[in-house]
Amino acid sequence: MDLRRLVVAAVVLSEAGILHPAIVGGEDHHVFLDWEVSYAVRSPLGVAKRVIAINGRLPGPLLNLTTNDVVHVNVVNTLDEPFLLTWNGLQLRRNSWNDGVAGTNCPIPPGENWTYVFQAKDEVGTFFYRPSLALHAAAGGHGPIRVNNRPVIDVPFPHPDGGEFDLLIQDWYNMDATQMQERLDGGRALPPPDGVLINGLGPYEAELTFEAGRTYRLRVSNVGTRTSLAFRVQGHKLLLVEAEGAYTQQKHYASLDVHPGQSLSVLVAADQPPKAYHMVVSSLFAGPELYGVGTVRYAGSSDQMPSGNPLLDDRSSHNTYNRSMEQAKSIRMNLTSGAARPNPQGSFHYGQINITRTLLLRNDESEIGGRRRCTVNSVAFANTGTPLKLADYFRVAGVFTVVSGWPETRNPTLSTMAIDASYKDFVQIVFENRLPSLQTWHLDGSSFFVAGMGWGKWSQDARSTYNMVDAMYRSTVQVYPKSWTAVLVYLDNEGMWNLRSQDLERRYLGQEVYLRVSQGNSEVPDPRDEMPMRPCLPMLSCVEKLKVLKAGTS
Ligand SMILES: *[C@@H]1O[C@H](CO)[C@@H](O)[C@H](O)[C@H]1NC(C)=O
Ligand SMILES: *[C@@H]1O[C@H](CO)[C@@H](O)[C@H](O)[C@H]1NC(C)=O
Ligand SMILES: *[C@@H]1O[C@H](CO)[C@@H](O)[C@H](O)[C@H]1NC(C)=O
Ligand SMILES: *[C@@H]1O[C@H](CO)[C@@H](O)[C@H](O)[C@H]1NC(C)=O
Ligand SMILES: *[C@@H]1O[C@H](CO)[C@@H](O)[C@H](O)[C@H]1NC(C)=O
Repeated sequence: MDLRRLVVAAVVLSEAGILHPAIVGGEDHHVFLDWEVSYAVRSPLGVAKRVIAINGRLPGPLLNLTTNDVVHVNVVNTLDEPFLLTWNGLQLRRNSWNDGVAGTNCPIPPGENWTYVFQAKDEVGTFFYRPSLALHAAAGGHGPIRVNNRPVIDVPFPHPDGGEFDLLIQDWYNMDATQMQERLDGGRALPPPDGVLINGLGPYEAELTFEAGRTYRLRVSNVGTRTSLAFRVQGHKLLLVEAEGAYTQQKHYASLDVHPGQSLSVLVAADQPPKAYHMVVSSLFAGPELYGVGTVRYAGSSDQMPSGNPLLDDRSSHNTYNRSMEQAKSIRMNLTSGAARPNPQGSFHYGQINITRTLLLRNDESEIGGRRRCTVNSVAFANTGTPLKLADYFRVAGVFTVVSGWPETRNPTLSTMAIDASYKDFVQIVFENRLPSLQTWHLDGSSFFVAGMGWGKWSQDARSTYNMVDAMYRSTVQVYPKSWTAVLVYLDNEGMWNLRSQDLERRYLGQEVYLRVSQGNSEVPDPRDEMPMRPCLPMLSCVEKLKVLKAGTS
């Protein structure tokens, strides 16, 4: 019955082109965009590679939003494979229907289109979008997102009178993304990347122009596959002001670490002799050191190239995990500055809230069914192609299991599971990294407070070391090798939310899970708590499969 309702509603809505009633209307400003997703060829390091472009561009167009804007992005998939985009760091309140991951959306089939509709809210800052299926993100398909404050709310720093630049930095593989995927399917690990790019460009191709005396805001995101990167501008200090939608205590850094999936903003004053400078992005920690180099040129300067060797730097002092963890701990939230609303960021006293439950996540690698997998608490997530969110909505059994925590298992297993979480739970998530490489984790739907980090194993005693006052509030966090990171999250956003590794290889091999945040009642949620589903094509592409599954279980 539910399914018939869906099909009828879908046909009616898609024919009439009716949009989501709960978001359309009111005085909100609407932004309408058409994005065509296509293959293109780029050779940033001299080797041609098939990439994914948006409207012919890589990086794709800037998604420039202001608090309360409702955006309608019509994504037209001209690839020969299914495709989805996800909005890394946007909270999509009550609206996991538009999160664009395999667990919430049917993929947009080749040759078809689907319109994402969502509203930007209190997350004022710097983010990016990227593809979420297969290893598409290793082929590009990404672009910058800015969420601006409304004019009536001040930003806690002087207006950057020179302007703003979006810088997407990343490690890069010359290898085709489908070949990378075949390699993983064949049980082999990815080789080290071939280089580092700035805005999709190779050495000395990315160039910013500064006017002497002005200040610039650089919005930097690491959109890469797996490599932590350090960002700096020769001869200039970086004033960190924002990370993933929260204002930081403003502090100068010579170089800033940006781990996979993370975003931040810095202010840079053009206060140096007017010439050309290196903008350097270097790989941290693992493997051979790789560099991406661009140029910052002062307007009117006759210098063709920056002087000095960008690669000769304080390598010995900057490339250690301890130095990186110290830097991470020095980044704190500014409690007095307002974000999207007049009340200050610090008015939510997270340190005084009792923790409802703790999820301890231990990562590992195992052979399961003869294949190398990445696990969390011995479970590798199995993507079945049927969105958990839809199966949940139509109460189709057998697609996934809802569990209150990880099963007690010693034998590594494959499982499609969602962790049941209650609406307004205040949860502590501890990521314990037992492996010798750095991990990054990201949660959709809610940002978390990065309360603590430490070496070795986590224990209850570690809580005495937490920052319970001004920890950063963000959505992607790094976990150093043989260490733990503890975050606190207030789950006040109903929906099916993806918790994933930002390392594409690890995620592809199973390191992700979903949090099902609900009020626990069995009825379809109240639209005040969760928006109703907006059925249409893509959604329909899953229906046949759901029907078969439903028939099999009733
Ligand atoms: C982004 O939007 C803001 C607010 O509407 C506008 O002032 C700004 O010029 C836009 N920036 C770009 C690069 O489009
Ligand atoms: C697909 O694109 C067409 C043309 O732009 C548009 O009218 C239609 O609403 C889109 N369909 C969906 C499901 O978004
Ligand atoms: C914090 O924000 C306030 C209010 O906007 C601002 O005046 C102050 O300079 C900021 N402090 C730091 C350390 O960034
Ligand atoms: C990092 O710091 C920890 C604890 O302070 C120490 O045990 C460890 O030896 C340090 N590691 C390096 C490589 O300096
Ligand atoms: C937190 O827990 C303590 C001890 O159980 C209790 O006394 C206190 O009232 C709780 N605080 C809140 C805000 O619920």
